[in-house]
Amino acid sequence: MRPSSFLGTLLLLLFPATLAFKASDFKTCSESGFCRRGRALAARAQESGTSWNSPYSVEPSSLSLAPHQAAFTADVKSSIYPSVKFSLDVRIHEDGGVRVRMDEVDGLRKRYDQAAQWALLEEPSIHRDIRWTVGKANAKAVYGPKKDTEVVVNFNPLKVTLFQGGKEQIVLNGRGLLHMEHFRAKEVSQPEEHIEAEGQTVLQVNPAVWFEGDSQDAWWEETFSSWTDSKPKGPESLSLDITFPNHAHVYGIPQHATDLSLPSTSGPDARYTDPFRLYNADVFEYLADSPVSLYGSIPLMHAHSPQSTVAVFNALASETWIDIAHTEKKGVETQWISESGILDVFLLPGPTPEDVFAQYARLTGAAPLPAHWALAYHQCRWNYVSSDDIRGVQKRFDEEDFPVDVFWLDIEYAEDHKYFMWNKKTFPDPVEMTKDVEAIERKMVVIVDPHLKRANDYPVYKRASDLGILVKPKSGEGEYEGWCWPGSSSWIDFFHPGSWDFWTSLFKTKSIDEQWSWTESTDNVGIWNDMNEPSVFNGPEITMPKDNVHYDGWEHRDVHNINGMLFANHTYQASAARTDPPRRPFVLTRAFYAGSQRFGAMWTGDNLGTWEHMAVGIKMVLANGLGGMPFAGSDVGGFFGNPEPEMLVRWYVVGAFSPFFRAHAHIDTKRREPYLLDEPYKSIVRDILRLRYSMLPVWYTAFRETSATGMPILRPQYMMFPKDVAGFGIDDQYYIGSSGLLVKPVTEKGAKEISIYLAEDQVYYDYFTHHAYRGSSKGRSITVPADLHEIPLLVRGGSIVPTRERPRRSSPLMKHDPFTLRVALDTTGNARGELYLDDGETYAHARGDMVWRGLVAETQGKGKGRAVRIASVDLAAGGTGVGLYDPRNEFARSVGEVRVEKVVVVGLGTKPVSVILESGRELEWEYTPGVGSGKEGQPGMLVVKDPAVGVAEDWSIVVKL
Ligand SMILES: *[C@@H]1O[C@H](CO)[C@@H](O)[C@H](O)[C@H]1NC(C)=O
Repeated sequence: MRPSSFLGTLLLLLFPATLAFKASDFKTCSESGFCRRGRALAARAQESGTSWNSPYSVEPSSLSLAPHQAAFTADVKSSIYPSVKFSLDVRIHEDGGVRVRMDEVDGLRKRYDQAAQWALLEEPSIHRDIRWTVGKANAKAVYGPKKDTEVVVNFNPLKVTLFQGGKEQIVLNGRGLLHMEHFRAKEVSQPEEHIEAEGQTVLQVNPAVWFEGDSQDAWWEETFSSWTDSKPKGPESLSLDITFPNHAHVYGIPQHATDLSLPSTSGPDARYTDPFRLYNADVFEYLADSPVSLYGSIPLMHAHSPQSTVAVFNALASETWIDIAHTEKKGVETQWISESGILDVFLLPGPTPEDVFAQYARLTGAAPLPAHWALAYHQCRWNYVSSDDIRGVQKRFDEEDFPVDVFWLDIEYAEDHKYFMWNKKTFPDPVEMTKDVEAIERKMVVIVDPHLKRANDYPVYKRASDLGILVKPKSGEGEYEGWCWPGSSSWIDFFHPGSWDFWTSLFKTKSIDEQWSWTESTDNVGIWNDMNEPSVFNGPEITMPKDNVHYDGWEHRDVHNINGMLFANHTYQASAARTDPPRRPFVLTRAFYAGSQRFGAMWTGDNLGTWEHMAVGIKMVLANGLGGMPFAGSDVGGFFGNPEPEMLVRWYVVGAFSPFFRAHAHIDTKRREPYLLDEPYKSIVRDILRLRYSMLPVWYTAFRETSATGMPILRPQYMMFPKDVAGFGIDDQYYIGSSGLLVKPVTEKGAKEISIYLAEDQVYYDYFTHHAYRGSSKGRSITVPADLHEIPLLVRGGSIVPTRERPRRSSPLMKHDPFTLRVALDTTGNARGELYLDDGETYAHARGDMVWRGLVAETQGKGKGRAVRIASVDLAAGGTGVGLYDPRNEFARSVGEVRVEKVVVVGLGTKPVSVILESGRELEWEYTPGVGSGKEGQPGMLVVKDPAVGVAEDWSIVVKL
């Protein structure tokens, strides 16, 4: 968020547009020297057409194979700077992924080479059996289960190609736009030189001009608005073209407010004039359709076609611009232009979407299973102004029967915005207040931002200053000072190892030694890390100057996009370290990078209360899932503005179907806690909240899968139906995990119905009315009712959805509640689902304390006498890698009394003869015959009443037909 003032509010009233997104706060490509240079290089290549040749080549004689041979290194030269040396390192990992690294060697300086180190879980191991064959013109390796994956490194010019089934999947430097600007001394580089020839002085163009252009454009200094970047290292940018010759769609590179299938930024069909930008930024009132950088950056791009899905992870931490062109014959061409850093690209060969997610999760880790309560509803506002305000809001939620799990405190809890320090006038009793919330098994989340007020009576700043762990200005001496919420501020340098233990010590709720710690807090409090791009109100582009200095002398420019991840990392670790054994922490971050998924949830920042922002928020959350960061959501209601009741209701649906579900609002907005709504809106929102709570088993089960596989929670159409071209561009409907639930939130005013695309010849049932729709293998759009009180939510035939239908005030109070199973039979009379449960807060699940059930419905036999057998089987026992698993584990025993209270079988065409437990007992049931064509209409439905089978037990119900 950004400052608001009386004047600002006044201006907003007079000229609503003046406070909106200020394009002039942020650079366009043409205002950024290295981006200009990168685009100019592409333009020169384009102009010279087929005569363009990359100057970079591999020296074949220098090639050296590692002992296990799936890795090699070689020297690379550039014909325009023959004396500059580069080294190339290509390796194939155990899972078939390829890593290509190139760096300048023996240069004047060292390029930043640690981005991957922060992002990666660990160094991937190199394949033991794959061998490179080295020829005159190239080096090749063939591998994969079908021996149809091939990596070819061409020597002259340097080009790296990943093939599959004989087709090019990913090509690096195929267009000759690779350029690693080497370090140079300011005076020796002259673009033009004068040479004596036959007694005359002629102007000879520097041979590098064709490649680098004829001016030293912004090599040594750069000014933007009133800021000057001193660029002490001179030019060091990196351009690389990456082409997907056989793919028509690319996705990923969050975070941008744009379509999931990324539009072109160059070429005839360009939607935007600027490339997509990755430079973590606090963008005030961002646009709902734009390539502009937002709060987080994940340089991961997926390319998809009916034949394959592949991806590239370009591990760079500096400002990066990405041009995308969809071509008619050459697939998707991209150019990545980064300000600094080595070339370090990971090629993920897929070939399915699932494979790509697994490959990326092996590199950067999967999102861990969050605390269960974190999936419930969060109520936030800038600001709940006092302890009594919090108590009052909680009381109203309870009086009005709205479930809620978490109350949030924004920056105004802190005295003078000194985080951790309570404003004692308004929050005289913070621990008592927190305990009042926790008494109903709820939680509090409190904000801790990275800027520290420069005040010697602020123990956090004082200690950080004494330890010398604050970010330094360009001189490399003293403390960088910038302006943020508390006024004059400094920032901890989380790259400094000396900051880590210090940060952990702050969160201890018991004082251990003489040092200050947060004794006025509890071990359950979640932490909100905002402003960690970092946002600096008086800095260039509202962030830190790029020539600021971090640990080990690296410039801020080198590490900018990683900065926010480190802050969340250490907050996460500090939160976990409050208790022994640790409990699962909750941290929400605004800035993020590849790997941030390991440290909690993100949200899409300061959105606007408009229909456009509501709609694009869904796409952004989907894109984040593709970026490996599934625990995501956007502020319900929109941060800015006062949404009308209809919009607020629709926004609650968007939130209820996002992994992270939080309502939040700017300080200038009217209060909009859902109980303040008039009828019918109020009751509708209550129902939406209850729906989310009833579906917590679905969300939690989906998170278990994500934590094991890296698959996103929200799955767009192309991922479910990777061969159905018609679905590749769809980004307004999605499936939830493997549950079979398909939702399309309404993001339009006045809607009464909505169309949903079904890609398969399968039956889909309305979640609420059970009305059956039939898709088609050719793809078919159906129309479903979508009045304000209706949610377009379908259950795919073939799914079993476990829910808990008893309304409670908070999610932990549901722990012993019974389950309902919705069995949605597919066209062949079968269905399956999953249910995962554990204590929701500790790490005991890692030792096997869990209940993980497979739910199966099978039609057995034919004609008269056939039966549908519905069963629950133990999935954890089936060799899942949980070695210590015991079906009678402590957690399973703790839910031993929890039963299934209802089984609803939808799509049963015949009235049963009997319904029995396989163990013998007859069950009570009711059958409603279907109405309609048999394909569409009201399907036959069986309700089995209270079979009283244990949710943690094996059982089966036999429905004889
Ligand atoms: C998280 O912090 C630890 C140090 O506490 C460090 O070793 C690790 O690399 C960090 N990971 C990321 C992704 O920042």
